[in-house]
Amino acid sequence: MKAKILLPTHENLFHVAQAIRQDEVVGIPTETVYGLAGNCRSPLALARIFETKERPTFDPLIIHVGPLAKGTYALERLELIDGARLSVQQRRWADQLILHFWPGPLTLVLPKHPSIPDLATSGLSTVALRMPRHSITQALISASQCSLAAPSANRFGKISPTTAHAVESELGDRIHWILDGGACEVGLESTIISLSESDEIKLLRPGGTSVQQIEDVLGITGLQLTSQTPFDQSKECAMPSPGMLESHYAPEKPFLLLPKSVTDLHESDLLSLFKPTIVRSLESSVGLLLMSGDSASLSSKFEKLTGRKVIARTLSREGNLQEAAHQLFTEMRYLDSLNVSAIYAEPCFSLQGLGFAITDRLKRASARYS
Ligand code: TXA
Ligand code: MG
Repeated sequence: MKAKILLPTHENLFHVAQAIRQDEVVGIPTETVYGLAGNCRSPLALARIFETKERPTFDPLIIHVGPLAKGTYALERLELIDGARLSVQQRRWADQLILHFWPGPLTLVLPKHPSIPDLATSGLSTVALRMPRHSITQALISASQCSLAAPSANRFGKISPTTAHAVESELGDRIHWILDGGACEVGLESTIISLSESDEIKLLRPGGTSVQQIEDVLGITGLQLTSQTPFDQSKECAMPSPGMLESHYAPEKPFLLLPKSVTDLHESDLLSLFKPTIVRSLESSVGLLLMSGDSASLSSKFEKLTGRKVIARTLSREGNLQEAAHQLFTEMRYLDSLNVSAIYAEPCFSLQGLGFAITDRLKRASARYS
């Protein structure tokens, strides 16, 4: 099988919608990252999503809804959520968040409607829903007349794709169609908020909508990432929250997070990072993922410190968080494709706004080597 990348013409949209109606899975653009989409009510399509991604079935999917689903009552009518299990407070919070952030990079976990197959939610009594902002995704949902279950279109645990070609390199031998919607605007996944437990709001995954924005809309403070104990994969149950697998978004090459920015880095800071098992040959080049600043001077400093040839990429020269998020997975993927023995990454220059989600992704990508 060799996936075909399709431009988003009317004919192609119709064609892909038809494939979805026939339980196929297809690569689709969204404003966050590309997804691997199938009809959320088709157990066959859902099984294909898990199989194509080699994703364990204990990791539930996000369901992407169309423009009609704007509010909890609409979600009930569309038989996506069970409104009877929402408290007045939860409904108010959910509606406020939907009003402000949909369509956009925010996923809400709400009580699941019984008609949604258990496979989509890994047997959980809750369902994760979001309304994507990308016009092509919206047109596709309308044309296929169903909500779309769509995890990121990468092999399980790997870097999420942000272009149609990245989907091709991840899954090109396993699917027929990839709809090309250009480079993803946000560049990292949606923020996930759970409103499924009694009058509690939980942040399950930081992402494209910042914690500050959510707090401002709800008039709350202190929303923190739900503490995550590493998930025991041997147990036959769903993950209670996403990202419980510490290692995620991982390049193939060893990916190491530097303790400080290259500007502040001293030779002694590197000692603990140069693990002999990781850096095989002293002649080999290493990749360097810079968050900001002048790539030429920073990479020559890193070359002096490490004695290696360095290939550097910068996420945002001026230190703009939107730009850094937009570039993150693309540059990780690029450095991973080079002939380097390891990739070193600077920590993000900010924990505010999208900096929190960028930091989360860098930590997970480097978890195996920290
Ligand atoms: O931006 C995004 O959210 C992208 C695009 C394609 O929409 N999708 C995405 O999906 O990141 P995925 O499958 O890579 O991550 C979805 C996360 C999983 O880690 C899963 O554990 C969590 O959502 N999730 C899904 N249903 C859940 C539920 N009922 N309760 C808690 N977490 C849930
Ligand atoms: Mg993913």
